[in-house]
Amino acid sequence: MNYKIIACSLLLISINVKAQQSKIEQKVDSVLNLMTLQEKIGQLNQLNAGDVTGPEDKKNVNILEEIRKGKIGSLLNVKGAKITKELQQEAMKSRLKIPLFFGQDVIHGYRVIFPIPLAEAASWDLDAIKLSARVSAREASSSGIHWTFAPMVDIARDPRWGRVMEGAGEDPYLGSVIARARVLGFQGTSLGDLDAVMACAKHFAAYGAAIAGRDYNGVDMSKRQLWEVYLPPFKAALDAGAATFMNSFNTLNGIPATGNSYLQRDILKGNWGFKGFVVSDWDSIKEMVAHGYAKDLKEAAQMAITAGNDMDMESNAYEGHLAKLVKEGKVNIDHVNDAVKRILIKKFELGLFDNPYRFSDEKREKAELNSLANKAASREVAKKSIVMLKNETGILPISKATKTIALIGPLVKANQDMRGFWALSWGKDDIPLSLYEGVRNKLGNKTKLLYAKGCNINDSVTTGFRDAIETARNAEVVIMAVGETFDMTGEAKSKADIHIPGVQEQLVKAIIETGKPVIVLVMGGRPLIFNYTATNAKSILFTWWLGSQAGDAMADVLFGDYNPSGKLPITFPRSIGQIPIYYAQTHTGRPFEEGKSANYRSAYLDVSNSPQYAFGHGLSYTTFKYSDINLDKTEIALNDTIKISLKITNTGKYTGEEVVQLYIQDKVAQPVRPILELKDFQKIKLAPGETKQLVFYIEKEKLSFYNDDLKWIAQPGDFEVMLGSAADDIRLRNAFTLKD
Ligand code: BGC
Repeated sequence: MNYKIIACSLLLISINVKAQQSKIEQKVDSVLNLMTLQEKIGQLNQLNAGDVTGPEDKKNVNILEEIRKGKIGSLLNVKGAKITKELQQEAMKSRLKIPLFFGQDVIHGYRVIFPIPLAEAASWDLDAIKLSARVSAREASSSGIHWTFAPMVDIARDPRWGRVMEGAGEDPYLGSVIARARVLGFQGTSLGDLDAVMACAKHFAAYGAAIAGRDYNGVDMSKRQLWEVYLPPFKAALDAGAATFMNSFNTLNGIPATGNSYLQRDILKGNWGFKGFVVSDWDSIKEMVAHGYAKDLKEAAQMAITAGNDMDMESNAYEGHLAKLVKEGKVNIDHVNDAVKRILIKKFELGLFDNPYRFSDEKREKAELNSLANKAASREVAKKSIVMLKNETGILPISKATKTIALIGPLVKANQDMRGFWALSWGKDDIPLSLYEGVRNKLGNKTKLLYAKGCNINDSVTTGFRDAIETARNAEVVIMAVGETFDMTGEAKSKADIHIPGVQEQLVKAIIETGKPVIVLVMGGRPLIFNYTATNAKSILFTWWLGSQAGDAMADVLFGDYNPSGKLPITFPRSIGQIPIYYAQTHTGRPFEEGKSANYRSAYLDVSNSPQYAFGHGLSYTTFKYSDINLDKTEIALNDTIKISLKITNTGKYTGEEVVQLYIQDKVAQPVRPILELKDFQKIKLAPGETKQLVFYIEKEKLSFYNDDLKWIAQPGDFEVMLGSAADDIRLRNAFTLKD
């Protein structure tokens, strides 16, 4: 009965949505009929009018005049209710009064800054990730912004690439569920609500696989790899309703993504049925000339629109050449009309034709930006993003009764860095909290805090060490903060060397050698290499860039008010030579087993195959026991589901959360399958001594993969199912067979 009511309501909702949709389409058609070709092209033109987030753009354009002439459809990087309203008023002076879209990179927070996306991914907490996007959307929309260029859903398996910080790491399953959470967070209950912004899944596609980790470099990969690893998070974003997509700077197998009709027309708008619109990346139409793919900007414009790129960000290619291309018969007018329609539909859906100023509300903006609730949300997400890599002798958590604590290292008092890259709209008065301030806030004046910087991030001299050693000697416990600066990751921030820079590890060594208990906080936006610290420090936290409330969040973990629960969403190598390193590798014909002879085996002479820290790794102040794995059957048919249950017990002294990870291995398949593939996970909270039973389900979809003909199939045969706390910490295994 209940099911019937639910089914009927769903049907009514879908009929209603379809009716609304067709009404909007009618309205769009009537606007389209009134438009000149020049006005249509204007809708496809997006220009920067604020922070410069790409190569300097010295244009000889009077933006206000162009808006009044209907030659601009969207502006990026303008913000604030007042200014967006003023600009929209200019658009209302144009012949057809078509409102503008205001887009911005709201990547991890707007005014209140949240942890960088890679850090949030380390929470494996989809509600927290969604909350971050929700708060960002509420703040941004109150400032007149309609559209965020996020989430970035690029899979990244090369930590040299600076933009690893902007995505969800290396895994297509984790990347997909996070992509979904972020889209739902940004777009809220429904596009058109005042607190929703349009999401933009970017960069379509394979941008994260830039050769040698160098930003903007070409990508060469098999179609199977593309479909299996790089496309799933995009599909997940689309299924979650992402209103827009952005293409990418890279070539994919020789064809720039911006001019790639296989990606944009065949897959996205064809196979996947995407109804939103595609924006180019900054100048990426123009860059097809630099790629040596188009002979000039005119040809680049032709290639882009023909390949399915709807809006031109910053290249001025459409504005400059499209009219002529249509007149010469080189561009099909249907492609132009389709692109304009896709954009106008979204303008209608956002209610901008009814009221172009509806998002530009100074009163709402004042109440929303930087509110206490938003700051509290940021702290909540930040503490969940911290990953405890090591806690050997249980120095952590530190007792709040400690009389003297030394804080040592170049990042102890760093506050601006806590924002991380891509924080464009933080207020000058909202300086993030440093580690030092967080510890001070937590302990008040009861504890004496000593401080020594020791060195700068890039120093090659050790002159500050003596003071640092002295400071450590005078304290009961030492907290160190080392790593990179915030602008060593981000766009155009690739690095060939990802060791912690300068003499910082020498500083760690000098302080450890004092014999004091030392806790090392490593800060950065990518996996870093810090082998001395990894081997010799007893306690290590990886704290990324945690945003506005970083200091308080780190103090929550350091002093036990929050039990760390983060897990790495990306593998940390021991050596640059291991890159690309990721957990879902396939077997070789000559597999190497740790501890056995490496002769004629797939191994390195000079370094182990294993990472420093595996995907999924992250410790807690408590311990968890995995037991009682049970499969309800050991053989399943193709249309069957297998139920897997297990028990998790908190065997330690603290209440804590565990991310229980489910991996599978398809034992024999053509083509071969990875040794481990994440297929599901659950994050659960347990009190000391408490046991919970968890249930997972595996069905055909989870066992399927792309075969050589790019068919999505499940091959009958034997599978192993593994449950564990990290990719290298499998606690329970069992097996089943998929029958024909
Ligand atoms: C980046 C995009 C970003 C755009 C606008 C480009 O350089 O690749 O991710 O959305 O600039 O700021």
